[in-house]
Amino acid sequence: MILVTGGAGFIGANFVLDWLACGAEPVVNLDKLTYAGNLQTLASLQGDARHHFVQGDIADSALVARLLAEHRPRAVVNFAAESHVDRSIHGPEDFVQTNVLGSFRLLEAVRGYWSGLPADEKAAFRFLHVSTDEVYGSLSATDPAFTEDNKYEPNSPYSASKAASDHLVRAWHHTYGLPVLTTNCSNNYGPYHFPEKLIPLMIVNALAGKNLPVYGDGMQVRDWLYVKDHCSAIRRVLEAGRLGETYNVGGWNEKPNIEIVKTVCALLDELRPKADGTSYSTQITYVTDRPGHDRRYAIDARKLEAELGWKPAETFDTGIRKTVAWYLANGDWVQNVQSGAYRAWVEQQYAKPEAVQASA
Ligand code: NAD
Ligand code: DAU
Repeated sequence: MILVTGGAGFIGANFVLDWLACGAEPVVNLDKLTYAGNLQTLASLQGDARHHFVQGDIADSALVARLLAEHRPRAVVNFAAESHVDRSIHGPEDFVQTNVLGSFRLLEAVRGYWSGLPADEKAAFRFLHVSTDEVYGSLSATDPAFTEDNKYEPNSPYSASKAASDHLVRAWHHTYGLPVLTTNCSNNYGPYHFPEKLIPLMIVNALAGKNLPVYGDGMQVRDWLYVKDHCSAIRRVLEAGRLGETYNVGGWNEKPNIEIVKTVCALLDELRPKADGTSYSTQITYVTDRPGHDRRYAIDARKLEAELGWKPAETFDTGIRKTVAWYLANGDWVQNVQSGAYRAWVEQQYAKPEAVQASA
């Protein structure tokens, strides 16, 4: 049994689906179901006794302690977070609450559980913290990609809150000996991505005939990784990562934002041409830049490859084609997310959302 937090969000849900598809052990999935949590993403697991969903907060120490005592997981994988940079600029408090205080409370509950385990289970236990490349700050065009030795220079409320959580995780290892692992990953994309983030927003807006808002000059660079490759990296680090180490995760896919948007438009032109014969790229609109916008991120993932033999399976070309095709084939999921109708679905399936329930 493992405990996954934030497993109804974009990466966490992809992780749970992949984990169980690989035939691995059961999962307790603790998620607060904020606006970003969506159990409909996990609908294929209904009736699967290996998935035990609990609606709750990682900052709820009593709940986490109870779940740990009841289910006795051999590992915790912490995805739960507020994750959107723009939201963090307009409302930072939730980010401090979940990413800092929540991570602290989770670590404390896990430490309490772990310290009471028998010696063999204690030695085998792992706490894997899922973090971001944004903690390293921004690169110039000529700087080398971030390695695990880069210093932390977070620039947004989001990245500052994630940096704080990474430091707590590190401290709980050094001070208390908690067996932790941290992964710092670049920008993910793929199925079930909430359409507030660049790639799904561009797909959804393009299809709706809306503007495609590109911040500033569109020349900011992000390093893109298909979400299932992130999931395989986490599985590998959990399996064989060295205790107390951090591992950068990335796919060597640096692209300026405007190139991403044009690629999405070109794929849509091919797969769902517009009736009037014009390109979706005519909808591109340059808008005011994000305050404090980091110019460039790039991940050097050689440590993960050299130590643990991990490599991404998708190139950007294969991953983005799959992603656009997924959104075209899953208009219902998008519509439900946009209308909030998935909340009603959750209530139908989970009559008492606060209660601890199996997914049956
Ligand atoms: P997301 O916003 O899609 O999902 C976050 C999930 O956490 C949601 O299901 C939400 O309901 C849940 N959650 C939020 N607060 C909670 C709380 N207090 N208690 C329990 N659950 C809570 O985020 P994501 O994109 O899937 O990111 C997952 C993790 O990966 C985050 O820690 C993020 O910082 C990290 N990360 C994301 C990316 C990316 O490109 N999306 C890249 C690197 C790292
Ligand atoms: O680097 C990893 C991070 O990637 C994760 O830690 C975050 O959780 C995740 O949200 C993501 O952060 P970004 O800020 O890079 O992602 P976002 O999709 O919001 O934006 C990607 C780039 O596109 C960024 O440079 C801002 C730009 N952008 C974004 C949106 C939503 C636009 O130009 N227009 C937009 O409408």
